[in-house]
Amino acid sequence: MFQFDIWLVIGVAPCTFTKYRKTMRKTGILKSSLSKKYAMALTGLFLCLFLVGHLLGNLQLFIEGEAGRVAFNEYAKFMTSNPLIKIMSYITYASILFHVIDGFLLTIANKKARPVKYVVEKGSRNSSWASRNMALLGTALLVFIVTHMMNFWWVMHFGDMPVHKGVKDLHTITTHFFNPHENAMAGAATLLYVFAMVSMSIHLHHGFQSAFKSLGLDHPKYNSTVKFMGKAFSLVIPSAFASIPIFLYLTQA
Ligand code: HEM
Repeated sequence: MFQFDIWLVIGVAPCTFTKYRKTMRKTGILKSSLSKKYAMALTGLFLCLFLVGHLLGNLQLFIEGEAGRVAFNEYAKFMTSNPLIKIMSYITYASILFHVIDGFLLTIANKKARPVKYVVEKGSRNSSWASRNMALLGTALLVFIVTHMMNFWWVMHFGDMPVHKGVKDLHTITTHFFNPHENAMAGAATLLYVFAMVSMSIHLHHGFQSAFKSLGLDHPKYNSTVKFMGKAFSLVIPSAFASIPIFLYLTQA
């Protein structure tokens, strides 16, 4: 009997211990994946708010002539000098960083957790193209954001800026960027912006609804409303953004 107990302990205990460790490891991964998803959702929704604000400001580029130039420059001055907006800007930069880093870590964790593709995985039957390519779309957006900030943000903050009526003339920098008579790459830049906005639209189409799910805010009663809001947001915001470089290019060509 004693011998049997010993063998039971020797045999079962390591098994149970290994099982316990595996379970702990799995729940640990699960926990960290869940907190990463939570952070992705929060930073993603904050960036959606940023997009709305940024778009409203940029829509002033549609105002033609001197009035548009003054309005946009005053807006840019306010955005770079108001202390509250400055804090929002730092939160925006931090959100972009967190969203990108967490996104990469989650993609790597998902790949490690499932090194071999499910046999039953049949692409669009199990998930949408957008959901399977969020990292790719996000990377395209990251490349866009970095080049975009180098072209405008860097020039505004650290570059040699022209001045108009005592204010930094960001309007001229922006409009000349999409003007084929001022910038030989204006056509390519316009195309890059349109391509980036298509990527953003697909990224948002999945990301918007997914964020609500990750935050545990999915409820059968509200799911169709969230789905509709996601679809509308992912269509309206990127289209409005894309229309700015197209408008600036065509009206200055
Ligand atoms: C397509 C039309 C767009 C135009 C004309 C535009 C224009 C500008 C300009 C002029 C600035 C510099 C403003 C400043 O430093 O105060 C800026 C900053 C910035 N833009 Fe855009 N932008 C566009 C779209 C986007 C999109 C789609 C994103 C994100 C995906 C984006 C992300 C940013 C960020 C993160 C900054 C820095 C903001 C800050 O310092 O608070 N922009 N943009």
